[in-house]
Formats: sequence, C-alpha cells, structure tokens
Amino acid sequence: MSPDGPTKPPSAAPLSEPISEQADPHILLDAVSVGYGETVIQRDLSFGVRRGDVFVIMGGSGSGKSTLMRSLIGLLAPQAGRILFDGESFWDALQHERTRRMRRNGVMYQSGALWSSMTLEENVALPLEQYTNLRRSQIHEVAVYKLALVGLSAYCDYYPSEISGGMRKRVGVARAMALDPDILFFDEPSAGLDPLSARLLDDLILELRESLGATMVVVTHDLASIFAIADDSVFLDAATQTMLTTGNPRDLREHCEIKLVRDFLSRGGE
Ligand SMILES: Nc1ncnc2c1ncn2[C@@H]1O[C@H](COP(=O)(O)OP(=O)(O)OP(=O)(O)O)[C@@H](O)[C@H]1O
Ligand SMILES: [Mg+2]
Repeated sequence: MSPDGPTKPPSAAPLSEPISEQADPHILLDAVSVGYGETVIQRDLSFGVRRGDVFVIMGGSGSGKSTLMRSLIGLLAPQAGRILFDGESFWDALQHERTRRMRRNGVMYQSGALWSSMTLEENVALPLEQYTNLRRSQIHEVAVYKLALVGLSAYCDYYPSEISGGMRKRVGVARAMALDPDILFFDEPSAGLDPLSARLLDDLILELRESLGATMVVVTHDLASIFAIADDSVFLDAATQTMLTTGNPRDLREHCEIKLVRDFLSRGGE
C-alpha cells in the first residue's frame, strides 16, 4: 500500500470495500496508468483482487481491458503506479524475480494460441519442458492430468485442427495450468464460441476455482459470463480513460450510482 499515492478521484466510488481495507489482496493496483508510448489508455487504476476470487475486468470495446491485462501478465510496463502480487511490486522487481512471478501466472490467450503441428498433450507439455527439470515421463503424467482436469483426457493425441473451438479453449486452459499457477488470466475466453460452449467454459472456470483455489482474472464483455462467474469486477470507461467503479456485477446492476454502468450491465434485459 502506498501511503503517499495520489488521492482517488470522486468518480471512482467503489461499492465493495476500499482496497485499503481488504485483508491481504492477492493483486493490488495502486494508481496505475497503462498505455502505449506517450498515449495513456487508462489512468489512476486503484483496486484489489481478493485471493481465490473470479475477478472480471469489464468495459466497452476499446476501453483498455486487454491493455491492462498485458500489464498484469508482465508484457507491458505501466506508465505510472504499482502492480503488487502478494504485496510485492512486480515492475519494480529485478528481472529474474519478474520471470519467477510470471511463471506462477497462467495465461489463456484469446485464440487458445495452440501449436497446430503438436498434439494436445505436446501443447500442454510445452511450458513444462521450457520451465521445469521434470523427466519426460513426469511431463507426460502432468500433461495428461491437466487435460483430464478440462475434460479432454480422451483427446491427448489429437491435433488442434481435429477438435472444436470450445475444446481448443479448454486445451488453452490446461496449458495455462501446466505450471500450477496461483493466478490464472483469461482474455475474452468466450470470444468466438457459441453460447453453449461459452457456458461450458464458464462452468470450467468455476470448477477450477473450486478445485485449485486459484485466483482468476477474466477480461470479458460477455454479460452472461460476467453474471455467471464474477465475484468482483472493475469497470473501465473509454471516454474518461479510468475506472468508474468496482464491485460484484449483480450488485452494480441494481445499485450502482453510475447510469452508464447500470446500462452496460442491463443490456439485453438479462
Ligand atoms: N499495440 C498498440 N499500440 C497502440 N495502441 C494500441 C495498441 N493496442 C491497442 N491500442 C489502443 O488501445 C486502446 C485500448 O485497446 P484494448 O485492446 O486494450 O481495448 P479492449 O478494451 O481490450 O477492447 P476490446 O473489447 O475490443 O477487445 C484502443 O484505442 C486501441 O486502439
Ligand atoms: Mg480486448
């Protein structure tokens, strides 16, 4: 916590408890600005992610959700502020400490980002080969286990082109879990999926939260997903280039003082 950080703007009135009062947040953002070069996309982001929560980053297209995600997963240095994992400032750490932290963060990319020339098992095994000293037989065991966790144990020898889009996403999740992360990041997990496959993926996220106890950070603007999975959320606004609020999306839909947020969460009359 930064005692001398800038004061929060009055617009960012969180419905949930203020970050300073959250016990031991897993991830903490302290006056973070993100963007590219001189261009600021989001500024003054201050919020916490509780350990074991599914936390959703929501907002309209172009509001900066993926940009913020890049800073959270270690690919884009913030322009200002601090991002803390377990109380340690990520971007102020030495390179080797950052690398160690990044290994504990599992990331599922939008497309699943699988290698088409490798079987599903080989895809899941890749991070284990890159980052561990496990023997080949142990890697095989772990990869098969992770594929079983996402319901694909019968498909280990298949190639990505031989399975459905929803199954490819599941493989992406299995690979993101290969190194037993304590935080899993998902960028638009349901993008490109039919509603049924998207709901199955939501169910998987909730199952994994239960069984692994991992913290999940999910970027999505899929309302059904938001209401199905989110314990907590932050709303990013493109026009003001900052967060408008944080809180449980169901609470925000009913009680948020900001009409834009209520409208966003009431689209389609869910
Ligand atoms: N590599 C980049 N360099 C410069 N500007 C970028 C880059 N990537 C994204 N932007 C800009 O940053 C802004 C936010 O983009 P971002 O992809 O983070 O939004 P988003 O909320 O994820 O949108 P969507 O819901 O459409 O995925 C946009 O104006 C975009 O044009
Ligand atoms: Mg995006």
